[in-house]
Amino acid sequence: MEGLNRPLGAPPVPSVVSNPSDPEDLWQFPDGTQSSNSPQVQPSNSPQSADSLPSVDPAQGPLESPDLALPSDHPCADSPPSADSSQLPGTSQKQDVTSPLPLRRKPWRKAPAKDNKERYIAIGIDFGTTYSGVSWACSFDPENIQQVKGWPSANMRLQDEVQIPTQINLKANTWGYLVSKQSNPIRWFKLLLLDEQDVKQDVRKSSYLTEARNTLRSHPRYSGDGIIDLVAQFLKELWDHSLQDIGKRVDVDKLPLRVAVTVPAIWPSYARARLKEAARRAGIERPRLMGKTKLTLVEEPEAAALCTLHERREYPEIEVGETFIVCDCGGGTVDIISYRVKSTDPFQIEEAVRGDGKLCGAFLADSAFERWIKAKSGLKFDNVDEEEFRAFLQDEWEYTMKRAFSGKENQSSFAIRPPSKAMKKLKLKTKGGTFPISKDTLKEIYSKPWNGTRELISGQEKRIVEAYGKPPKKILLVGGLGASPYLYWQLHAQFHGNVLQPSQAWSAVAKGAVIAVLESTDDVIASMPVVVSRVARFSYGVQFGYSPNSLASFGQVPGDRGKDEYYFDPDGTELVRRMTWYLKKDETLDNRDPVTHTFSRWVRLHELSDIKITIFTSHENPPPFRRNNSVKLMCEIGIIALVPWETLERCTSPSGEEYRNLHGVLTMRFEGEPKWSLQIGQSKVERDVKVRYEGV
Ligand SMILES: Nc1ncnc2c1ncn2[C@@H]1O[C@H](COP(=O)(O)OP(=O)(O)OP(=O)(O)O)[C@@H](O)[C@H]1O
Ligand SMILES: [Mg+2]
Repeated sequence: MEGLNRPLGAPPVPSVVSNPSDPEDLWQFPDGTQSSNSPQVQPSNSPQSADSLPSVDPAQGPLESPDLALPSDHPCADSPPSADSSQLPGTSQKQDVTSPLPLRRKPWRKAPAKDNKERYIAIGIDFGTTYSGVSWACSFDPENIQQVKGWPSANMRLQDEVQIPTQINLKANTWGYLVSKQSNPIRWFKLLLLDEQDVKQDVRKSSYLTEARNTLRSHPRYSGDGIIDLVAQFLKELWDHSLQDIGKRVDVDKLPLRVAVTVPAIWPSYARARLKEAARRAGIERPRLMGKTKLTLVEEPEAAALCTLHERREYPEIEVGETFIVCDCGGGTVDIISYRVKSTDPFQIEEAVRGDGKLCGAFLADSAFERWIKAKSGLKFDNVDEEEFRAFLQDEWEYTMKRAFSGKENQSSFAIRPPSKAMKKLKLKTKGGTFPISKDTLKEIYSKPWNGTRELISGQEKRIVEAYGKPPKKILLVGGLGASPYLYWQLHAQFHGNVLQPSQAWSAVAKGAVIAVLESTDDVIASMPVVVSRVARFSYGVQFGYSPNSLASFGQVPGDRGKDEYYFDPDGTELVRRMTWYLKKDETLDNRDPVTHTFSRWVRLHELSDIKITIFTSHENPPPFRRNNSVKLMCEIGIIALVPWETLERCTSPSGEEYRNLHGVLTMRFEGEPKWSLQIGQSKVERDVKVRYEGV
C-alpha cells in the first residue's frame, strides 16, 4: 500500500491505523516501530510493580510533545520539557511514541477551590442488601454528621431507628418499615443489579436471592434492566424522606447538594453504573434552584474506614506506618479491608493489602434461628400461619434477642413469646406464655457468622503481617452485625482486646460516605482522612495490534497462528491483536499519580465519529495476553467532542486524502468508580469524558 505524503519529509505510511473490520481495535502499534525502538518504556507484563514503572523518556514520549504540554497553571505543569515536534508517531522509527503502557505523571495536586467556604449539604446514602441508611452534614459544619431518622412507620419505636429495611412490597405499595410484618416483601434486590454470573457462587444459591428473583418474575416490568427501576423506586422513597428530614434542621432549598451512594467494593463497573443510573432515576439529580446536585459513588468498606478512622484521628494509635483492619459485618456479607496510615497531618491513608469478603453476614444467624425454632425447640408451628410466624420472627428475634445477645455471664437464658398455638402441645412447663432459649443455643445460632468473620479477619491479619512484618494495630468493627455485642466480645477474646466497635457502628458506612463527599472541599479536607491509594480489584486495559516481531519486547508471549488473531492494517503491515493492561489487579492506584495511557493514530475526518477508546477489564490474575472469557468490555469513551481537528498535525496521502494525527493521553483515577479524562492534541487540559458503560 502506498504511503501518505507528509510535510517535512514524513515517512510514507500513516503511523497507527486501525483495522477497519474491527471498530474496537482502534489504537495499534505502527509497523514494527514499537519493538526494539521503544526502549524507553517498560513492557507492561514485566514483573515490575506499578510503583516502580519507569516513565517515558521525555525526549521521546508523547506526554512531553508540545501538543500535550500543559499550561503553567495546570497541576501537572511541572512535567519535563517538550520533545522535538518532528518526533511524532510514525514519522520515523524513533518517532513511534504510541505506548500502551502505564506512565506515571508528576504528582497531581488538588486545584485550590475558588471559594474556600463552599457551602453545600453532603449526603451519604448507604444502600445495603438488607438495611439502608442516610447521613448528612453541612460543609460549613463538617464535624456534625447527623443521621436521617423518623422513617415512616406505624410503630413509633421504629421511627427512631437509624437504618431502614431494604424492602418493598409491590402489591401493597409499601417500603421500609411500612411493610407489614406479616407480609412477604421483595428483599435482597440490590444484588439483582449484578449479572447472575458475577454474583459469587455462594450468594447466587442463597434462598434470599432466589426468592427475590422468583417474586420479580410475576412483575415483568422489573425483569432484566427493569431492576434498575425497582432499585430507583426504593431509593426515591429513601431520598424523598431524607430531604424532608434534613429539611427539618436546615433550609435544604437554600443549599446545593452533593450526594454519595455507597457501592460494594467488589462490584464490576457495569453494576456500579446501574446503581448510579437507579439513583438518577430516583430523582437525586433532579434540577434544583440552588444548582446541580453532584452524585458520586463511594465504596462501602472505604466509607466504613473513613468514618471509623476519622472518629479515632486523635487517638495515639493513629501513627504513620500502622495498619488497621475495618470489618463491615452486614446483613448479607462481611467485607474486610485494611488501611495503613501514610501521614497524620494531613491525615492520609492507603489501602494496605487487598480486601476480602464472604457471604457470612447476619442472615446466617436468622436462618439458623428459624431452623432451630421450627425443628429443634419443641415448639410446633404447623398450625401457625405464615403471616403470624413472620411477625413472631420480627418481634422476638430481629428487634430483640438477636441484637441484645452478648454471650456474657449475666445472660444465661432468654425468654421469648411464641404464638400461643405453637406452645399448645408443649410438654415443658413455661411461665406466663414465655419460652426459654439458652445461651448455648444462641451461641450455636451465631456460630456461622462468627466463624466466617473470624476466618476473614485472621486471613487479612496474615496478609498484613506478610506485607508489613507486624500485625494490624486495631480491628474496627462496623455494620449492623458489627454492632452485635456477641460478635464484639468473641472477637475481643480472639484478637487480644484489639477490637474496637464505634458507638454507632451500624451507620458508619453512611457517615463515611458523607466524609468522602466533604473531602472535595479544600478547607474541610485537612481534618478528614483521605484515601490516597487503593489496590486495584480488576485489571484495566485496551486491545492493541502488535507487530509480531515486537511481541517479546513488550513482555507478550510469542505469536501463535492457532490462538492469535492476525490481521493486516491498511498499509499492509501484519499485526497480532493482543490485550494490553495498563493497570493490573493488585497493583496500587494512586489518585495523586494517576495511570495514563497514551495513544496515537492517523485518521480521516469522516472516521472521527466512529472513534472511541474501548476499555476492558479482567478479574484474572495475572490478566491474559489474549482476549479470553475473563475479559469484559467495560466501557467506551467517545472522543469526537474533544478533538481539536484543525490543530492536529496533518498529512496528505498520494490520492489527496487528508489525515490528521490523533494523539493524546487517557488518564484514569478512581472515585468509587473509574474516572477518565482525556487530553487530545493541543488541548491544554484534561477533560472529563462521557463514558458509555456496558450493561446499562
Ligand atoms: N446489635 C445488633 N446485633 C446483631 N445484629 C444486628 C444488630 N443491629 C443490626 N443487626 C443486623 O445487621 C443486619 C444489617 O446490617 P447492615 O445494614 O450493615 O447490612 P447491609 O448493609 O444491609 O448488608 P450488606 O453489607 O451485606 O449489603 C441485619 O440483619 C440486622 O438485623
Ligand atoms: Mg452494608
